[in-house]
Amino acid sequence: MTSRKDARSRKAACVRLLFFAAMAFDAASACAQNSDTIRQYQFEPASSGYQIVMKEVPQPVAGDNEVLVRVHATSLNRRDLNMLHRDYDENTGYAGSIPLSDGAGEVIAVGQNVTRFEVGDRVAGTFFEKWSDGAPSEEALWSDRGGNAGGMLSEVIVTHEDGLVSIPDHLSYDEAATLPCAAVTAWVGLFKRGHIEPGQYVLLEGTGGVSVFGLIFSDALGAKPIITSSRDDKLERAMEMGAIGTANYRSNPDWQSEAKDITGDHGVDQVLDVGGRDTLSKALEILAYGGHIALIGGLSGYGSDVPTDAIMWINATVSGVYVGSREDFEAMNDFISEHEIRPLIDRVFDFEEAPAAYELMESGDFMGKIVIRL
Ligand SMILES: NC(=O)c1ccc[n+]([C@@H]2O[C@H](COP(=O)([O-])OP(=O)(O)OC[C@H]3O[C@@H](n4cnc5c(N)ncnc54)[C@H](OP(=O)(O)O)[C@@H]3O)[C@@H](O)[C@H]2O)c1
Repeated sequence: MTSRKDARSRKAACVRLLFFAAMAFDAASACAQNSDTIRQYQFEPASSGYQIVMKEVPQPVAGDNEVLVRVHATSLNRRDLNMLHRDYDENTGYAGSIPLSDGAGEVIAVGQNVTRFEVGDRVAGTFFEKWSDGAPSEEALWSDRGGNAGGMLSEVIVTHEDGLVSIPDHLSYDEAATLPCAAVTAWVGLFKRGHIEPGQYVLLEGTGGVSVFGLIFSDALGAKPIITSSRDDKLERAMEMGAIGTANYRSNPDWQSEAKDITGDHGVDQVLDVGGRDTLSKALEILAYGGHIALIGGLSGYGSDVPTDAIMWINATVSGVYVGSREDFEAMNDFISEHEIRPLIDRVFDFEEAPAAYELMESGDFMGKIVIRL
């Protein structure tokens, strides 16, 4: 549940965003654009939490194993919005770092030891700059872009060559920019952890970034996606995109029974649980024997009254998923290329309008992904 205090502080953060957008853009555009400088947004402490402010800074230089990327597009995830509401901490906080984990662009320079990329390559950043493959180390999990490692909301970024992937040829930069967090998370939840098979029933909660990628991937594989939403117009769109059934979780608090009926009493084989506290036990109620739940998010908060014995009786598998490695991203890109998959982009904002993109995410009036083009 969101408290009234949370709602007030979110509203205040939105107002701040708009105010600083105007101020900061004036300041940055007032500086003559000099080829040695670039524009980027940075987190700054606000009266509560953080705000993003545009700055003009020196263009970075690629070290021996590093690559310079001219960013053409970025995309938002719920986490990016949540970060603005975190308490400012001068020791461990984000002040001065660049927001947004997701972005795609073109390689414009490489360091002398770089072997994986050359100038002109089309690339996207990995969510974790230091998680290439296998199980993650603690260091890898502390290298999340747009948080503990530099983010993508910058005209040019510098990164280790290991923190990039080539993007599928059929995708535009806008489309490729939607992949690093939401798409990789959905892919790992369904394919790597869930071992999804064609014909299986898949439950997707809400119509945000992760869930809509779950819908697109399930449909491409020949599985049977069932999706929930608070809005009937979004559910209609989901049916056009390949959902085999839908339920409105706002108008029907017993939405899980409606979802189970669609399976003819079989139950759902796969769940991408992004709802958390309010959805997990309901999803478990309708899980098929041998089913899999990927624990991904906490849109309604974390923690739950999950009947753990039920997990045992039905031989269920529950996995915690925290995005994935570069190897996972590359495997997903193969699937995306093979099926010529295109992400669902709700709206594209200009770089100068970045705070308005955050506002749209806060409003909930979107489906799929929100993109900022540079
Ligand atoms: N573990 C990881 O690696 C990972 C990666 C990505 C995201 N996440 C987490 O997963 C969650 C979703 O992220 P996202 O970026 O996909 O979010 P998003 O794009 O902002 O999607 C939010 C949508 O979810 C729906 N929703 C909101 N509250 C809900 C609730 N209580 N129950 C069911 N649906 C609800 C709404 O859809 P309708 O408008 O259709 O109702 C809303 O528009 C977040 O908690 C995020 O932090 C985790």
